[in-house]
Amino acid sequence: EKGGYDHFMLKEIYEQPDAIKDTFRGRMLVEQGIIRMAGVDDHFEKFLQAPRIIIVACGTSWHAGLVAEYIFEEFTRIPVEVEYASEFRYRNPIIHKGDVVIAISQSGETADTMAAIKLAKGQGAFVFGVCNVVGSSISRETHAGAYTHAGPEIGVASTKAFTTQITVLTLMALKISKAKGILSKTALHRYLQEMELIPAKVEEALKSNEHIKAVAEEYKNASNFLYLGRGYNFPVALEGALKLKEISYIHAEGYPAAEMKHGPIALIDEQMPVAVIATRKGHYEKVVSNIQEIKSRKGKIIGIVTQGDTEVRGLADYVIEVPETLEALTPLLTTIPLQLLSYHIAVMLGKNVDQPRNLAKSVTVE
Ligand code: M6R
Repeated sequence: EKGGYDHFMLKEIYEQPDAIKDTFRGRMLVEQGIIRMAGVDDHFEKFLQAPRIIIVACGTSWHAGLVAEYIFEEFTRIPVEVEYASEFRYRNPIIHKGDVVIAISQSGETADTMAAIKLAKGQGAFVFGVCNVVGSSISRETHAGAYTHAGPEIGVASTKAFTTQITVLTLMALKISKAKGILSKTALHRYLQEMELIPAKVEEALKSNEHIKAVAEEYKNASNFLYLGRGYNFPVALEGALKLKEISYIHAEGYPAAEMKHGPIALIDEQMPVAVIATRKGHYEKVVSNIQEIKSRKGKIIGIVTQGDTEVRGLADYVIEVPETLEALTPLLTTIPLQLLSYHIAVMLGKNVDQPRNLAKSVTVE
């Protein structure tokens, strides 16, 4: 059942090239520059007219929502708010007529997300679901939706659900962008071509596994970890920290890299490993100077960099390479080494990777 892997989590990490392919299969007509998604097509006007998009989710799905915020705002120019479902449901949120609510949930059974959906529906919003489990409660409660088609995710720590959620949300944003006349046909074509290459690039990123094991070995006894990223990769930093916390029980925090000097930099000393996402596109030079700030305080730097990078390599204690891609698609690649890093640390510490203490795969109670 684990297909030769020691844990479901590792199997699911390795399934990502296929899972992402399954997510976009039949939806992208690359040569024609067309994206077909029935749930979106059937309600297309609502998306095109939306004054605002509100994303509700929990945990890793909420992180996918944050990535989507950057992507939707960039490509569709629709203002996006991303809310923890548990907060949204209890704070008498303002929902305007025409607002589109997107609920993201792997299991489709998360109680807080479900309650947020019911609330939004009650106030007249159109609610769109991005779920993995077919026929799940959330997929039935929403007005329409798009499945991620990641296949069953058994490990409590979400991996392939995250990257496929981002894939679905990216396709939605690109489709809306094109229809709004923001993205040209040529530009859309370029994105679709690149999306088609993502599974192979994820495959390539997975090849760093042995090297990541060595990094895990080096830092497995740390009691704290910091994860930093900017722009599209800020939510990836949050997700990297969550993965480490939930399966290795090491305290970890994700931060926007530039926010460090407003507090967390005080934590940095020679005991503190800091994973910094520093891919070549997007605020690269800014992140490099953030790395210098950490280095001058003797922090240990693990750089997640673009293949061939030399600048960060010169500063970091370790670098882990990912292939180059378009900036908006980088989260699909930078996530991979962070999943593997947390996996190996947890295994080395002898933790129950697939079923960490105190956690359940579906959180059906609030
Ligand atoms: O099934 P959902 O996507 O609604 O679940 C939301 C969270 O409970 C889930 O992502 C949780 O944070 C994972 N254990 C993270 O790995």
